[in-house]
Amino acid sequence: MTVPTITLNSGFTIPQLGFGVFLVPADEAEKAVSEALEVGYRHIDTAAIYKNEEGVGAAIAKSGIPRDELFITTKLWNDRQSGEQPHDAIRESLDKLGLDFVDLYLTHWPTPEKNTFVNAWTKLIEIRDAGLSRSIGVSNHLPEHLDRLVAETGIVPAVDQIELHPAYQQRDVLAWGADKGMKIESWGPLGQGKYPLFENPAVVAAAEAHGVTPAQAVIRWHLQKGIIVFPKSTRKERMVENFDVFGFELTDAEIAAIDALDPLDGSGRVGTHPLEFN
Ligand SMILES: NC(=O)c1ccc[n+]([C@@H]2O[C@H](COP(=O)([O-])OP(=O)(O)OC[C@H]3O[C@@H](n4cnc5c(N)ncnc54)[C@H](OP(=O)(O)O)[C@@H]3O)[C@@H](O)[C@H]2O)c1
Repeated sequence: MTVPTITLNSGFTIPQLGFGVFLVPADEAEKAVSEALEVGYRHIDTAAIYKNEEGVGAAIAKSGIPRDELFITTKLWNDRQSGEQPHDAIRESLDKLGLDFVDLYLTHWPTPEKNTFVNAWTKLIEIRDAGLSRSIGVSNHLPEHLDRLVAETGIVPAVDQIELHPAYQQRDVLAWGADKGMKIESWGPLGQGKYPLFENPAVVAAAEAHGVTPAQAVIRWHLQKGIIVFPKSTRKERMVENFDVFGFELTDAEIAAIDALDPLDGSGRVGTHPLEFN
């Protein structure tokens, strides 16, 4: 199965479908990532705060898969944004992952009250220039944060990884990205199982029309919108299911019906709001 790639503003490409490891316990990460690599995933999304980078690294090392065939993302945690700390943080992450470089390094949250996210971004630029991350981006940044990054550094993030699923679509961030050449990554693409997405009539109708599961229909919705997506599962059969999404295509009407599931008042959000996370 060939996963489509998306070209980032760095010129590097990213597999549009990957495997996320948030809430995969440290002692299960090696097994989960090994299974994901067996299934065919080549893009892994971790973070320092997930505390499972060693397990991810162990699975990568054992897999024997050439480094160039893998796309590894990790993230700078919020308490390392100031001063030169991002430089220490990336080296610690690389040590844990057993890698010389990551493909993508992200500032995890803007934590606006601390007002250190612009400093973090300047350090990520240095980290990229030092060859420790091929591409750099952000996570949970709103247009007001993105505007500041660009105003103060002139560098547009390669991606913004944001909470995005049918009930919470963050169209303002998507519009910013489309305007500036920044790609969007969905976190919580299945709503983290926190609302009955898979029983929603629009999702069920799309799934039934193509003989697929509701989760597959939702992943396909992300992909057809040009978004990068990495659902998490520690169950191998679901890793297989979530990867088997290239044999069908949702119609424009099915996409529009899922688009309409966002109440547009922010009430579909399942995670923390970036302005409230400090
Ligand atoms: N940047 C950020 O702030 C941030 C925040 C959250 C997440 N993320 C990233 O985004 C990735 C994905 O988001 P997420 O893990 O929060 O949520 P998610 O992928 O939307 O949902 C994961 C949940 O859905 C279940 N699931 C997976 N596949 C399923 C299927 N086919 N059918 C039914 N249930 C299924 C999983 O359970 P089982 O494991 O039991 O299968 C798990 O409970 C994370 O792993 C992480 O890499 C980033």
